[in-house]
Amino acid sequence: MSTIVITPTGSSLHSKETCSEISVPQDKSIFHRILILAALSESQIFINTIGKLSSDVLTTLNALVQLGVKIDRLEKEIIVYGVGKKGFKKPSEAIDCGNSGTTARLLMGLLASQSFESILIGDASLSKRPMARLATILNQQLGADILCSDNGTLPVKIRGKALHEASVILPVASAQMKSSILLAAYCSNTAIEISEPSASRNHTEKMMISMGIDVQVNTTSVLMKAHRSIQIPSPYWYQIPGDVSSAAFFVVASVITKTNLRIKNVGLNPTRLRFFELLSDSGVPLFYENVAIANGELYGDMIIDGSKVSDLKPFVIETEDVPNLQDEIPALAVLALFAEGKSVIRGASELRLKESDRIKAMIDNLHRIGGRATELPDGLEITGSNDFIPSGAIINSYYDHRIAMAMAVAALKSSGVVTIPDASVVSISSPTFFELLGSIPAASMISITE
Ligand code: S3P
Repeated sequence: MSTIVITPTGSSLHSKETCSEISVPQDKSIFHRILILAALSESQIFINTIGKLSSDVLTTLNALVQLGVKIDRLEKEIIVYGVGKKGFKKPSEAIDCGNSGTTARLLMGLLASQSFESILIGDASLSKRPMARLATILNQQLGADILCSDNGTLPVKIRGKALHEASVILPVASAQMKSSILLAAYCSNTAIEISEPSASRNHTEKMMISMGIDVQVNTTSVLMKAHRSIQIPSPYWYQIPGDVSSAAFFVVASVITKTNLRIKNVGLNPTRLRFFELLSDSGVPLFYENVAIANGELYGDMIIDGSKVSDLKPFVIETEDVPNLQDEIPALAVLALFAEGKSVIRGASELRLKESDRIKAMIDNLHRIGGRATELPDGLEITGSNDFIPSGAIINSYYDHRIAMAMAVAALKSSGVVTIPDASVVSISSPTFFELLGSIPAASMISITE
């Protein structure tokens, strides 16, 4: 595990008015889904790849290989040779979902309707996260046979069987649960209706529609008709845009260091953009260029005129905002340190169930760098100021990629040395994070020690 040390140098190498240009890693949510849907097709699916794959994506890829799917990794693309709904093989051992909640939950739906038994396991962090609320829905409403361990977590034993149609009301807005149920129903050739309290990200629905599956989407509900197979040409190309949740860290870096930044080809799916809308409302000049659509997903360049930011205003996040910006909350908490006055994030108790308890983890780390922050049962209250200078500190990432990345961004403005042990955890979603952060012309030096 490498340690990252971020040291203030007092001078910036570049002019802040020039615009740095970066590309963030490909969207992790979309990547998991296309690998799985490609495996479920009966075609050869070519997926474009840019740079190193994140470890979460590799986890899903390896799980599919374990299930008998042939996947070729070439320099600029991955080729998945679809096996159809019933072409998966019983794995010879438990499938390790590593740190990836999306892998575990999406596979739970897929495996619930296979004709064999399988077991899902995960690392220490994933093994603490809730699996029972999804397993209960699949069991009680679709007729699945899934057994979680006593505290409702991994390991999970799945005895695959044919499932039946259902109309499901989700207790919380969750794209992972919604997608898992869609996959379970799809694999069992059955119709399904799912409603959520508010709309979560809709990549699965968009991807299914782009592959010819009859999915009707209303704001907070999805209706999928029974389908025998995915009818798409072979070979079929899928282009994955940059990850807007990774982009969020660089946007905050650009705002607080007042530098200009262009993030190329980033996903602009409206269900992921609440964070950026909020920033615009707080006075950040942020706009999009070269907007296009590929495989049903919007993407384009995101431009932030950080050098024009003055008097950053505080913000209030309410329950209904949370599903569309929950992964960006650690970055938002850092931004709040530099906004004049009190920012409040409420209705975010789901954050306690992520790779770490992100409410506790952010409160702890904001305090470590001298920030004023109070823990709420369902969020955070942060009192910031436009001229806030974080102090040097040793960060605790809680082995959570988004906590490590958020605190590295805050460190760009620090008056002292900021050290992040276990910093390679960022490769869960963003293997080149520190190289990219180093290309922002801030007055800090980023060094890695093994
Ligand atoms: C994800 C959905 C979100 C998000 C997670 C990825 C997905 O979780 O926090 O990082 O790819 O479906 P929820 O299922 O809680 O919405």
